[in-house]
Amino acid sequence: MPPKAAIETPSDLEEQYYQISPEIVQSFNKFRPPLDIFKFREDVGRVVTYYKVGERLSKEQTEELAELVGAGVMFVSRKDHPVYVKHISYQLDLVLQDRHLKENEIADIFVAALTRRIEEFMDQPVKPVLDKVNEDLLVLTQYLWEDPNRCRALARRMATDHTLARHSVNCGFIGLMLFLASKPGDFRDPPQNRQLFDRMALGLFLHDLGMTKIPAVLTGKKQQLIPDDRQKIHKHTMIGYEMLSKLDLKHPEIEQCVTQHHERMDGTGYPQKFKHKDISDAGALTALVDSYCAMISKRPYAEAGEPMKAAGALSEDRKYDPILAKLLHKLIFNLQQADRP
Ligand SMILES: [Fe+2]
Ligand SMILES: [Fe+2]
Repeated sequence: MPPKAAIETPSDLEEQYYQISPEIVQSFNKFRPPLDIFKFREDVGRVVTYYKVGERLSKEQTEELAELVGAGVMFVSRKDHPVYVKHISYQLDLVLQDRHLKENEIADIFVAALTRRIEEFMDQPVKPVLDKVNEDLLVLTQYLWEDPNRCRALARRMATDHTLARHSVNCGFIGLMLFLASKPGDFRDPPQNRQLFDRMALGLFLHDLGMTKIPAVLTGKKQQLIPDDRQKIHKHTMIGYEMLSKLDLKHPEIEQCVTQHHERMDGTGYPQKFKHKDISDAGALTALVDSYCAMISKRPYAEAGEPMKAAGALSEDRKYDPILAKLLHKLIFNLQQADRP
C-alpha cells in the first residue's frame, strides 16, 4: 500500500526516504531485511511498499531487489532512522560508502558505534578488541579527513550522563575538533599528517584506559573522596601507560594523552607534577578536553555544567594551555550560535 505522503519533487523523496546503496543492501540479512523497503514508481510518481519487515523474501525477490537497488529506485523510510543507525553502526565502514546519509544521521551512527565499541574495550582491554576499536576509529578519521567541518555534528552530540565509555567518546569528538582547529592552514597537507591525526584519535579515545583497573567503589563514590582514594585513582595514568605497552601501542602522542592528561600548566597536576614547558602538545590538549568533558557531564558528585560556562571557566584558568582553552571557548560558542533558530 502506498504511504499517504505524495512525492512531488526529488527533494521530497530525499526528505522522507534514504536511497539504498548496493553496499547497504548487501549488509542486510538477505532474506529478512531489518526494516521496510520501498520502491519509487516513476510512472505514478509515488513510493510504494516493496517489503515489510517480518516477511521473508524469496530467492527470486532477493535477486530482483539487488537489481532494483542497482537501478537506484529502492528506498527506506527516514522514520526508520533508529533501526538504520543501529544496523549501520555494526558495520561502520558503510558510512564512507553511502552517499545518501545526511551528516547528522552519520553523526548518530558514529555515536552509537563508538560508544558500544569503547564500552567493549573498557570491559575487555585486550588486543583483539583494540584492533576493532582501531578499525572503527580509522573510519572516523577518514570521514573527518575528507571534511574537517564534519567534527561539528559530532561535537553537538555530547553525552551528558557519565560512563567511562561515554566520557571517552566525548573527549574523542571534542579533542579531534580542537586538534584540527588548532593547526594553522590545512592540516591535511602534507598527507603524512594523517598518521598523527589517527594517533591523536586513539590517544583521546583511550586516554582513561587505566581507569578500567580502578575499583568501581572508588570511581562511583558519591561522597567526598579521602586522600587515600584520590591517590589510588591517580594511579590510572601510569596504569594506562603500562597497559599501552602490553597492548603494543607505543607511539609518543598516544602515551602523552594517557600519561599527561592530569598534568597542569602550574605544576599542580599528576603524576609527574609537570609544568608548562614539560607538557607535550598532545598532553595539554587532552588535559583541557578531559576537564571540559568532565564539567559538562553529570557525575556522581556533580550536576552537568552548561557548555559555554565550562569552556569560559577553562579559558580563564591558568592550569590549562591558554591558547587552546580560548580556542575551545570560541569553538563551543560557534556551535551554540549555529544552533540558534
Ligand atoms: Fe583521567
Ligand atoms: Fe578522562
